Amino acid sequence: MRSPLIAGNWKMNLNRVESIDLARGIAQGTSPGEVDVLVCPTFVYLDAVSAVLEGTPVKLGGQDVYHESNGAFTGAISTTMLADLGCDYVILGHSERRHVMGESNEMINAKVKTALATGITPILCVGELLEEREAGQTQAVVESQIDGSLAGLNAEHVAQIVIAYEPVWAIGTGKTASPEQAQEVHADLRKLLSNRYNATSADAVRVLYGGSVKPSNANDLLSQPDIDGALVGGASLKVDSFMEIIAAAKTKAAS
Ligand code: 13P
Repeated sequence: MRSPLIAGNWKMNLNRVESIDLARGIAQGTSPGEVDVLVCPTFVYLDAVSAVLEGTPVKLGGQDVYHESNGAFTGAISTTMLADLGCDYVILGHSERRHVMGESNEMINAKVKTALATGITPILCVGELLEEREAGQTQAVVESQIDGSLAGLNAEHVAQIVIAYEPVWAIGTGKTASPEQAQEVHADLRKLLSNRYNATSADAVRVLYGGSVKPSNANDLLSQPDIDGALVGGASLKVDSFMEIIAAAKTKAAS
């Protein structure tokens, strides 16, 4: 049984005080249980948020990382630095990194490997553009992102990662994939992992949905059998809406 994971990707939002307040509000409303709760603030406030979350069940994650461990890489952040600040997770290959910053599957693959080697769980994001969906290429796009980003890994590694399916056309647009559309891709992803690795690993991997998840659609999305949680952008920036999404995941865990 996969325990649901609700992750908040704060992106490049909130100042220091707002980040601390939001983390505190989420921590106050979260008790240890069957739902894993994660927040991913911007790098510069990780330390401040980490202090707030210490001793609470809420986990901390980075929004990205560089694949080298240290050295002359101006402006870069390493997985050992994330671990040092108490991060258990790191988001990798987010569509904004792929499409705005130009990251390739090869770059993301190197990051996934470094994160695993450091003991940080990668949340690997995949997802198609609107024109790719309209051209019937969703499955092929997602498959090539998975193959490229997980190159060289074995079934044991793959069992340790989290995948987030985030259709690019649904991110920050208010347009959500229907529960059926999302379930179809999630089931395809699990089948792909089973074919490439093995059924045990494919069964262990949590596949999150991301793209305009909000309290009003969380129940319907999370009730799908292969949707194991959510990667939430906008609705993770307010305590109330994020807690409502966590409540929907609790309902799933209890069912
Ligand atoms: P929104 O929830 O704002 O659409 O963002 C989704 C996302 O990109 C999470 O990583």
